Amino acid sequence: GDVVALVPAAGKGLRLGYDEPKAFVCLGTDSLLTRSVDGLRASGAVDRIVVIVPAELLDAARGHVSDDVTVVAGGLERTDSVRAGLAAVGDAAVVLVHDAARALTPPTLIARVVAEVRAGRSAVIPVLPVVDTIKEVDIMGAVVGTPDRASLRSVQTPQGFDAHVLRRAYDAATDSSTDDAGLVERIGETVHTIVGDALAFKITTPHDLLLAQALL
Ligand code: C5P
Repeated sequence: GDVVALVPAAGKGLRLGYDEPKAFVCLGTDSLLTRSVDGLRASGAVDRIVVIVPAELLDAARGHVSDDVTVVAGGLERTDSVRAGLAAVGDAAVVLVHDAARALTPPTLIARVVAEVRAGRSAVIPVLPVVDTIKEVDIMGAVVGTPDRASLRSVQTPQGFDAHVLRRAYDAATDSSTDDAGLVERIGETVHTIVGDALAFKITTPHDLLLAQALL
């Protein structure tokens, strides 16, 4: 069956400090959006790509991707944007959800995620060990807990799903979430982890953009 990749790029990306949404910011000669879509295509594992952007940027977005890419308008919350993308997917066996901000993700990582879902996993996410100790704090900044670092992982994209499982997860979701796999966990499906890649980091801050430029 078909593998469809959703690229949610409808966030404002304020932490990067630009006027335009993050996906439209240039890294070298191409935008983060263009590079992310190119990476998905280069994996050889993706049949169709659906990009989700702010409604006022539909036309602009079409200038960033080739004609075979579907461009749809997103919503207020990330979950609204993914829902809009899912509505445009139609028939698919596997759905990937991949942040436009992870513009340097190696195509080999994308292919590995797809292969794991094809092998029968309901949900597959690339993860890396956490390097810093993580503290849980209250609103006053006082530490309330220290989870054991050895059991923590930092989560990347693309996240890969059996298409039926992801649709069920979104049908059941009542509040907003920034993590698709989290919604799948809530319907009782097992989420499988694979080893991610440092190059799949999310370009979020000006520091990240500098790092990405250095890596080009
Ligand atoms: O805010 P965060 O970095 O977690 O957003 C992850 C991805 O979700 C980004 O690529 C962003 O553009 C997208 N997003 C979206 N629609 C929203 C909010 C975020 O497509 N309403």
